[in-house]
Amino acid sequence: MSEGLLAEPVATLDQPHSEVVLSLFREITSRGALPASSAPQSGSPELPSEGKGLPIGPASAENGASSAVPGSQSVIPAVEEDPLSPPPVHTGTDLELTESPNDDVTSVPASFEPFGFGTLKSLHEFGLENPGADTIPHSNEVSDYPDYYFLGAPSKQGALDHSSTRGVQPPLAAFDVESIRRDFPALQLRSHGRPLVYLDNAATTQKPQAVIDATSQFYSNDNAPVHRAAYELAERATTAFENARENVREFLGAKDKKEIVFTRGTTEAINLVANTFGRKFIGSGDEILLTELEHHANIVPWQLLSEQTGAVIKVVPINDRGELILEEYAKLLGPRTKLVSVAHVSNSLGTINPIEQIIQLAHAAGVHVLIDGAQSTPHIPINVQALDADFFVFSGHKIFGPTGIGALYGKAHLLELLPPWQGGGHMIKDVRFEKTVFQHPPEKFEAGTPDIAGAVGLGAAIDYILKIGLPAIAAYEHSLLEYATNLLSGIPGLRFIGTAANKASVLSLIIDGHSNESIAKHLDTQGIAVRAGHHCALPAQRHFGLESTVRPSLAFYNNRADVEALVQALYSLIKHS
Ligand SMILES: Cc1ncc(COP(=O)(O)O)c(C=O)c1O
Repeated sequence: MSEGLLAEPVATLDQPHSEVVLSLFREITSRGALPASSAPQSGSPELPSEGKGLPIGPASAENGASSAVPGSQSVIPAVEEDPLSPPPVHTGTDLELTESPNDDVTSVPASFEPFGFGTLKSLHEFGLENPGADTIPHSNEVSDYPDYYFLGAPSKQGALDHSSTRGVQPPLAAFDVESIRRDFPALQLRSHGRPLVYLDNAATTQKPQAVIDATSQFYSNDNAPVHRAAYELAERATTAFENARENVREFLGAKDKKEIVFTRGTTEAINLVANTFGRKFIGSGDEILLTELEHHANIVPWQLLSEQTGAVIKVVPINDRGELILEEYAKLLGPRTKLVSVAHVSNSLGTINPIEQIIQLAHAAGVHVLIDGAQSTPHIPINVQALDADFFVFSGHKIFGPTGIGALYGKAHLLELLPPWQGGGHMIKDVRFEKTVFQHPPEKFEAGTPDIAGAVGLGAAIDYILKIGLPAIAAYEHSLLEYATNLLSGIPGLRFIGTAANKASVLSLIIDGHSNESIAKHLDTQGIAVRAGHHCALPAQRHFGLESTVRPSLAFYNNRADVEALVQALYSLIKHS
């Protein structure tokens, strides 16, 4: 820990119990809950046994293969003269902080079913008991929820204190993508004289009229400072802002809206955790576990922290499909590990990481977990209580909301323990030159005037998404991703980068003999917007010996015609080169 940064020494966390992690890992893999690639190839690793684990023992339904769900039914057009070859089908604790626990804060509810995770023994069965920590009873309920390969089973209604079920409705019989498209003014634009085909959704998404209206109506009708003024307009602004916080709580399935901190987005939320949890609980020689597929936003803040504190960054490797090697992860969870910070979905490869297993293994080792949900929140229903995530972060602009707004979820008792990060107005109860008394979370972490209109727009985006239903969105995108994968697979010289069994709507690719930049430029001339570059995930690209890829990425407003336009344009590029 660098001197001067901390007023107090690094707080201690319980030491991990590696044998428990190993036993749990064996239990998970023996039940076949992991993709084959993630299961151990040889004997399980032997890890030293020290410290103690914590009793976390949830149960869940197991993931299964999906069946196709009706999507838009447009016909594949003739693509140049080349017949498309038959394409291959894309197959598919609460932890104990020893420092000043806050008794006022209620812990998460005691029963849940995490998504897509095989039933596990409670840690009691591994001979570990920690009477001081919250115990989550084992649940034997089996979900009857339809399985899609990248969509796990949501919690049963009633198992959680999660007031709305809008996000867990079954998929619509028919996903009316054309009517959805009419909600998005930008999708009616033309580019280079052609209808815009927007396939850069992993970078940022287009906004429905409801979000645009909510933001402009806020400025027309409700604009005033929040929380401080005692007049009607300010009350309206405060209500709108706090309603948005409630929307985020509902969207993430958090227990309490005080667990939701507004930030500028994922990047700021990770920096917040690095500068609060990191500075308080991670000291010299302690380890932060990241993965090879992280976005730079989940690498650089930890490097900055490690420069300041002497903490060590360890990296979980991926295999050549772009999947995390879980056995290596289990091995890396050691006695000095203090935090695991991992993307739910890789922005450059599309891999959906098994965060349920990742969290359980970490908790078994007494380690806290941050989930970067920037790329999962647009596609996958989230329930932070079911996941038992300690921190979860996401960006509004990736979920059809405004830029410059996002959120951090943190378990209430953790947020209470953390020091403030930025200082200023709004985050204080009292200020004297001798001493400042801070607000409780979330205000403690929201110094200064927030992006009120942004929060209102984010709330509207969440309303919009939940009205359609994330299960319906996930099912539709699943079928669109398969459709696109199949068609693109027929293009000569095209190679996908990232072929995980569990993938979300990212199609990173390269084409022999064509630079990524020239591909993106050619697509642009056809009105097709895709990203070519390193996607702020250079370590992941370099795993494949690359510095960049072309990355078409899908959203629920994309249709088969968008995919067909992309495929046609790529064929024409190859033909005329
Ligand atoms: C996985 C992931 N994490 C973090 C970020 C950073 O998000 P933002 O720039 O909105 O803060 C992104 C953005 O692409 C991302 O894809």
